[in-house]
Amino acid sequence: MIESNRLRIAIQKSGRLSKDSQKLLKSCGVKFNVNEQRLIAHADNMPIDLLRVRDDDIPGLVMDGVVDLGIIGENVLEEEQLERQLVNKPAECTKLRELDFGACRLSLAVPNEFSYNDAQSLEGLRIATSYPNILRRFMQEKGINYRDCMLKGSVEVAPRAGLADGICDLVSTGATLEANGLYETEVIYRSMACIIQSTQTQTPSKQALIDKILSRVNGVIRARE
Ligand code: PRP
Ligand code: ZN
Ligand code: MG
Repeated sequence: MIESNRLRIAIQKSGRLSKDSQKLLKSCGVKFNVNEQRLIAHADNMPIDLLRVRDDDIPGLVMDGVVDLGIIGENVLEEEQLERQLVNKPAECTKLRELDFGACRLSLAVPNEFSYNDAQSLEGLRIATSYPNILRRFMQEKGINYRDCMLKGSVEVAPRAGLADGICDLVSTGATLEANGLYETEVIYRSMACIIQSTQTQTPSKQALIDKILSRVNGVIRARE
């Protein structure tokens, strides 16, 4: 690890978790200004650096000890853990606590005209997803054979584009499914945002700062309940 005396926290640069992640840290008394062009934001009043990255990169940065803390969806964390176990890469980190935002579910969905009974209806079909490992675990438990269509984005257009028969994607409000003529058939994973810590490094002073932040997070969330 490139040593730094400052605590590094990875948060999503832009997307569903970014505003709430920033708000939470600010509520914990961390003072910082985000420059949209910059990857790093330095806190003014504490030895903390915020790294603003893609959500998918956050679990790996924490597991590799590049950063100390990360705020991430449990869905992304779970997918990265399964992926790393598969390729024998370090997949450990400590979940400090679940947060009170970022609720979503990973679901199977099919076109409106598809007649769906249960997951067996997908036998032999092609499913587009950005979460191949969570999907595989679910389908293996059900004993269903299917084919992958790996897409990092625009998963919801795959059926209409003729790339897949159904999808496995995140649903929050359901607006994306509806706009694309799809309906949800099966929830395979429920998720909230969470705060995770690296199992590496941690000088006593960094650990003390983490403990302080975590106790403030607990207080902020209790006050919002
Ligand atoms: C997810 C998903 C859909 C959208 C669903 O993407 O891929 O695009 O949210 O939300 P809705 O049900 O409210 O319409 P998200 O922005 O969370 O993550 P990503 O940018 O990492 O794909
Ligand atoms: Zn993403
Ligand atoms: Mg998306």
